[in-house]
This record gives sequence, C-alpha cells and structure tokens, in this order.
Amino acid sequence: MSVKVTWYSHACVLIETEGTHLLIDPFISGNPLAPVKPDEIPADYILVSHGHGDHVGDTVDIAKRTGATVISNFEIHNWLLNQGVENGHPQHIGGGFDYPWGRVKLTIAQHGSALPDGSYGGNPCGFLFYVQGKKIYHACDTGLFYDMKLIGEEGIDLAILPIGDNFTMGPEDGLRAVKLIEPQKVLPIHYDTFDMIKQDPAAWKDRVEQETSTQVTVLKPGEYVEL
Ligand code: NI
Ligand code: MN
Repeated sequence: MSVKVTWYSHACVLIETEGTHLLIDPFISGNPLAPVKPDEIPADYILVSHGHGDHVGDTVDIAKRTGATVISNFEIHNWLLNQGVENGHPQHIGGGFDYPWGRVKLTIAQHGSALPDGSYGGNPCGFLFYVQGKKIYHACDTGLFYDMKLIGEEGIDLAILPIGDNFTMGPEDGLRAVKLIEPQKVLPIHYDTFDMIKQDPAAWKDRVEQETSTQVTVLKPGEYVEL
C-alpha cells in the first residue's frame, strides 16, 4: 500500500498510511489558499510543529470534532489540552515514539514558537515520519541548518521544505537544504500564502533538478503525491 501525501497549502500536509490520517499544521481558516474547509478534513492524529497561528491553525476545532490525538512538544501539548482537546501525546526534540501506524521523531527547527495568546510554546520542531518503510521529513518553519545533513543520513524518501523566504528558508537556502539532505523527492511548501512569501516553484524545481539528483514535486493546494 502506498503512502499518500496531500498538500493543503502553507505547511498543512495530510499523510495517509494504511487508513490512518496524520494531519500536520492545519492552518485552514484564514488561509486564502486552503482548498477545503476545516470541517472537511479527516484526522486521526494532528501534529503541531510550533505555536504560531499559521501552524496551530484549526487544531483545536478539528481535534474536538474528530477526537484526534494531538502530537506536539510538551509545552504546546499542554496548551492544547487546556483549550479543551481531549487526546494528546507529548514528545520533544530528538525523541521518537512508535505509534500503531508507525514512528515519528521530533527534529530541531530554527524558528520561534510563541502561541497565539502569547503563551510560551517551547522550541519549534520538524517531524521525521517512519511509515511503511518510507521516511518523510517535514521541516516545518525553519532556517537552513547544517544538521539537516544528519537527518539526510537516515535516507529520506520525501523532504517537505519551506521555500517562501522572509519567515523561513527561501529558494536559495532551500536548494542548499536539498544538497544537505539528499532526499529522493522534495515537496516545496510555505510559499504564496501571503504577498511576503511569493515564490516561483517551477523555477525552483528546474534549478534543484539541474544541480541535484532529487526530484521536485510541485503541487497545487489539494493535490497529492504517492510514495
Ligand atoms: Ni512560524
Ligand atoms: Mn509559518
């Protein structure tokens, strides 16, 4: 069975593996590019990378509707439970856990993490998924960091990387990230949602495929790639 990875725009990605839906950073309300409504998205688990509003997004409403288990760092996990989310599993950077559907490890990310109400959100993270023998690295919001090379040493099938610039890596550092990680495929994200992060993903695809052996998958919001 394949792993289906749907991009809902910005950093919001849905990974479907053997009937389980893993929803990452569900910023849907207030997202001008979102192709769906918050109440249309399935979720068994919701993973939140950091506290910013464009990542916590609709987590509370979707978790309450679906009963999904939220996975995040300890600080954001506790904050979400205080907002009325019933099921949660805290992890922290460097730690992995084996769930019934596979494993996820929290990785470092160079960014901030204050929650929408100003609460302390701990350190931001990325996610490394191990599902059906595939390894998927979602970098979430981050600048370039050399330890991406360590993540790449695991043998990444799909890297999901921000290229929007301004708040995260832009196209130049995104290319350098691909060279450090050396994934089979890369999916660019976190661009075009707002004017400040407008990018040309087709130009980035050409450049990455000229300079590396990684295949670039450019999706429109709502489209998916299968692994
Ligand atoms: Ni952010
Ligand atoms: Mn962001």
